[in-house]
Amino acid sequence: MVSKVSGEVCGTCEGRTYVIERQGDRAHARVCSCSVRCPLCEGRGFTYEVKEQTFSAKVGPKRYEVLVPCVCQHRAKRVALFNDIGLPGVTSHASFENYRAANEAQDRARNLAMHFSHHFDKAGVNKGFMLSGPVGTGKTHLMAATLKHLVLELGLAARYVEISLLYATIRRGFQEGKSGGEIIGPLSDVAVLAIDEMGKGRGSQFEMETLDELIARRYNAGRTTLFATNYSLEPERRASRTAAPAGYHRPAEDAKSALREQELLRERVGERIYSRLCEMCTFVEMPKDTPDRRRLIQEADMRPGSPPTGSRGTGR
Ligand SMILES: Nc1ncnc2c1ncn2[C@@H]1O[C@H](COP(=O)(O)OP(=O)(O)OP(=O)(O)O)[C@@H](O)[C@H]1O
Ligand SMILES: [Mg+2]
Ligand SMILES: [Zn+2]
Ligand SMILES: [Zn+2]
Repeated sequence: MVSKVSGEVCGTCEGRTYVIERQGDRAHARVCSCSVRCPLCEGRGFTYEVKEQTFSAKVGPKRYEVLVPCVCQHRAKRVALFNDIGLPGVTSHASFENYRAANEAQDRARNLAMHFSHHFDKAGVNKGFMLSGPVGTGKTHLMAATLKHLVLELGLAARYVEISLLYATIRRGFQEGKSGGEIIGPLSDVAVLAIDEMGKGRGSQFEMETLDELIARRYNAGRTTLFATNYSLEPERRASRTAAPAGYHRPAEDAKSALREQELLRERVGERIYSRLCEMCTFVEMPKDTPDRRRLIQEADMRPGSPPTGSRGTGR
């Protein structure tokens, strides 16, 4: 959706025709004031299109005008779709352009998300992605930038869920007498679902069953799902433990590898789910030393002579 009214690009939306702002705890889109009154249809919502058809061989081809919805109608629909995603307000500024890669893995993560967005095949099957990494490395940022593109530029329906909020919503739904399927249904069917904080939670039977059902439904239907997690995707490291000679105890080593296992997503979600994730997604893992952007911003703000806060959203 790009608009150039009278040859000049709007400074507010930079020609996108929509603006995304933080409204309460949500990211909210609206049609930019430059495009509220559509210059193409002057607000009527439709335009005329000339068609040509041959109704009778005797008369020959005839030209006639039909009413078709104007592009501004797509715009309003897409903006409404965007406001249903459930993206957190803190992501309203997130874009591919203002994402900075501090290492090769972050570069790969951005390229993967961009490639996925720009080559999304609406009629086909699209492999999603899984971003793993430490806190503040832009996983939610890239997810948000991806969902913005899919919904506002391609007109797809999408949903964003933070996993522990999802469990809480389902639990509440049960208390209100709804069935698991009734609550999970809309999330199973939406064209693109982004699940943030994968692996988080208590790992209770209820949580595992809920997640299993959701992932299995999406997997079986061949639907696209995106994930972000703080847990590691690295392959298992049990080998070092089993390699130790029998009767030889290395408590420190054992404790270390047990700790590592707890950090693995596979251990958190179980084999059944993890196996499906491997087929549903391309994985990117950011290393442990990837800088935490929240801390970088705070440190910059605390430096003597720096202007009072508000760095978020400036694309630093
Ligand atoms: N590489 C980056 N380039 C630009 N901004 C970034 C980058 N990484 C993070 N940010 C910004 O830092 C803040 C935190 O990023 P984000 O929420 O995406 O991190 P995260 O990886 O999802 O962290 P967590 O694991 O804690 O959920 C956001 O304001 C985001 O826009
Ligand atoms: Mg996050
Ligand atoms: Zn504008
Ligand atoms: Zn119009």
